[in-house]
Amino acid sequence: MDARAILAQGWLDSEEHTLADFLEYPDSDLFTKAKLSYLYIQDMKRKGVYQYQRPLMSACENRVLMYDEQTGWTREMIMMASNNYLGLATHPKVMQAALQATRDYGTGLCGSPMLSGTTRLTRQLEEKLAAFVGCEDAILFPTGYAANVGAISALVRQKDVVFIDKIDHASIIDGCHLSHGDMRLFKHNDIEHLSGQLQKYAPQFNGKLIAVDGVFSMDGDITPLPDVVALAAQHGARVMIDEAHALGVLGKSGRGTLEHFGLDGKVDVVVGTCSKALGSKGGFAASTKEVVNHLRYYARSYMFSTASAPSLVASTLAALEVIEQEPQWRQRLWENIRYLHRYLKALGFHVIPEQPESAVIIVEIGDEVKLRQMSKYLHNAGIYTNAVPFPAVPRNRGRFRLSVMATHTRQDLDETLDAFAKMRTKFDLAPYRPVLVQDIRIRARQVRDALVLAAF
Ligand SMILES: Cc1ncc(COP(=O)(O)O)c(C=O)c1O
Repeated sequence: MDARAILAQGWLDSEEHTLADFLEYPDSDLFTKAKLSYLYIQDMKRKGVYQYQRPLMSACENRVLMYDEQTGWTREMIMMASNNYLGLATHPKVMQAALQATRDYGTGLCGSPMLSGTTRLTRQLEEKLAAFVGCEDAILFPTGYAANVGAISALVRQKDVVFIDKIDHASIIDGCHLSHGDMRLFKHNDIEHLSGQLQKYAPQFNGKLIAVDGVFSMDGDITPLPDVVALAAQHGARVMIDEAHALGVLGKSGRGTLEHFGLDGKVDVVVGTCSKALGSKGGFAASTKEVVNHLRYYARSYMFSTASAPSLVASTLAALEVIEQEPQWRQRLWENIRYLHRYLKALGFHVIPEQPESAVIIVEIGDEVKLRQMSKYLHNAGIYTNAVPFPAVPRNRGRFRLSVMATHTRQDLDETLDAFAKMRTKFDLAPYRPVLVQDIRIRARQVRDALVLAAF
């Protein structure tokens, strides 16, 4: 890439680049890379394929009002990109708790928890979160990102090592970078590879940690936790799990991956976020009382950051109560997950994972230029979904990431399926595998028509 030539012409073709191209750019001016990435985003916007940071004019419910920057109009869209899995961000009890806490405590705590920013409410939440995930104690961080970064960098120090799944969340990776220990990757959900890595490297280090996502956010599948726990025991390693996409979704009562596998109390550190099924914001790490105590003094993202606002703390507390008292939301969520997964597959898409495992459903497209055009098509069809290109996923494995919510109606899902079916026809997408006509029982008439068109 000749930066001088590109900057002189004031234009670059976004179809020939990805965001990864502008991360490193060797130049005496630090800002050259920023000027290039700016042109890249401008070109995407010009082509109408920029679908990020779309401003909402309403809550993140099943249908949203979105301000369309291209047309200047506000329009309704079906929201298939929010992690508000149980719909609790607008549950009356949860909203009421946030309002009451704001009245009682004001809008912010204006200090780090260590010095001036904690309340009785915060402590109540920590205790409730700990009990929810079956640990002795928990510590509340400003975000899930901060929880992963803080917990790993406080526990893993020089001559320690973390074994991480290759597609673990960025905050786990950043925690490893910030720690003074080493990091070893293993192939996604590949227990044999993890075993090999442990055999090879564990003896070279002091403390050992295996850190995995419970549900992987870009593949929607679950970590093989029983095998991870067994391997950790063999090698004297501790296990940490990030339950961001599992809490409220997995397990008989929504307690996450541990409950799903019947492994309560078998994982050493449970990290989670309040920003997805819990409908609020904040993160936590739960463990033994000694570990939690240690994090309070050594996790820098806790120590040197202002505490969560009282409204967020109170709404998370209320959301946990709703999860315990109103199981119908999780039941509806799973009905919706199964429905959407089944019929996306019937439409001939490459759906990941093969069977529904979480509220994240992936439709892999592959080619990224096509993905961008399809993303524009879905946007125009009123479907708010996320196209995920490289570098968030491997090159040429671009995909749509759909987040299912308990509050989606059958009509929302059918209209989404309809748009996907028509998109498949329009872009002449080959079926991932032959569609078995006798398996197709999609109820919405429009979807059935489009499907027949697409299959033949
Ligand atoms: C797996 C995973 N871990 C951690 C996080 C970070 O959580 P938060 O958004 O609360 O910072 C996310 C959210 O994006 C996530 O998907």
